[in-house]
Amino acid sequence: MQSLPPFLFLFFFFFLLLLSSFLSPSLSSHESDDIEFWCSNTPHPEPCRYYLGRNPYLGAPKDKAQFYKLSLRLALDLTLRAQSHLKRSGPACRRSPEKTAWLDCWKLYANTVLQLNRTLAPPPGAGCTAFDYQTWLSAALTNLQTCPKGFRDTRASAELIGPVVRYNVSDLVSNCLAINRPAAADADRGRFSSWTTFGTRRLLQLSAAADVVVAEDGSGNFRTIKEALDAASKRMQSTRGSKFVIHIKAGVYNEYLQVVSSLSNIVMVGDGIGKTIITGSRSVANGYTTLSSATFSVFGDGFVASGITMSRRVKWPGYHVVRRPSIMRPFTVGRFIAGGSWIPSTGVPFNPSL
Ligand SMILES: *[C@@H]1O[C@H](CO)[C@@H](O)[C@H](O)[C@H]1NC(C)=O
Ligand SMILES: *[C@@H]1O[C@H](CO)[C@@H](O)[C@H](O)[C@H]1NC(C)=O
Repeated sequence: MQSLPPFLFLFFFFFLLLLSSFLSPSLSSHESDDIEFWCSNTPHPEPCRYYLGRNPYLGAPKDKAQFYKLSLRLALDLTLRAQSHLKRSGPACRRSPEKTAWLDCWKLYANTVLQLNRTLAPPPGAGCTAFDYQTWLSAALTNLQTCPKGFRDTRASAELIGPVVRYNVSDLVSNCLAINRPAAADADRGRFSSWTTFGTRRLLQLSAAADVVVAEDGSGNFRTIKEALDAASKRMQSTRGSKFVIHIKAGVYNEYLQVVSSLSNIVMVGDGIGKTIITGSRSVANGYTTLSSATFSVFGDGFVASGITMSRRVKWPGYHVVRRPSIMRPFTVGRFIAGGSWIPSTGVPFNPSL
């Protein structure tokens, strides 16, 4: 081995110096190239570029998983900012219809924060899949779209809600939905089989009878569904997470119901379509907003209803976006809770594909 001549060392040194001076500026342009690469593949590239370029969480995403996480964090941040803007506009909405529309928005934004937060940090050990995240993100998106709709429907002054909408949170949530879609489709395929065995095992352990019976004629525990939901609410404080089955006998129930987000796993079983009917007569034209005019709105998780006709306006925030039959199917009683294996034993007629 012969040693290198000294001038070659010097040359090498300068070469390295030159190289590093070339590298450092190209590092930051590389970063914006990355942002461009990721954002150009989303349905709303403009707000993606804008917010990702200013993101407070170090640097550009390195892979799809990071991009997804980052988009979720930004969506949650912006929702919180939009929410505080909404809060500040509250005092200006003292009178109807602005006040009603504003109150709806307040609930809808609070629920959006909840949905995004749990998509970002799912409860540990719950075994949540990309399919669940997709459901929660859909819920968040519907909420965000329902809020300005309430202002439009009641002809409330849109000036009040304009600044809140301009945060473009729904664009960012749409992007998250798009990024997560392929993973959700995979999880959906795997989900059915695991739910069936898991659901059957668990639900067979449930008591065969309903927890409470609602009957218009007084032959049950309660005459109104509202009372049954109140009972469920009380029960749930001691037994969190378990299912609460409400059997609603044939009859017409003129009620406005809300399954709030603290009420989870409510199962409502009617006596059949056209027999158990939940109705209401509020309408947007009468001065109620989209949300408050709903005969039935569901914020709670794991809600299942079967054998019930809900007449007029039924709105399940977050769940009504899911319209495609292939997506709906997992939520029907037969599949979602493996109803076929246990509801017949309660003697309650049901339609597994409702
Ligand atoms: C938010 O949406 C509005 C209207 O679509 C658009 O003009 C604006 O540029 C968007 N903001 C960002 C940051 O993309
Ligand atoms: C998000 O969830 C975590 C854990 O449940 C909670 O500590 C945090 O306060 C939540 N953040 C918001 C903005 O709701």
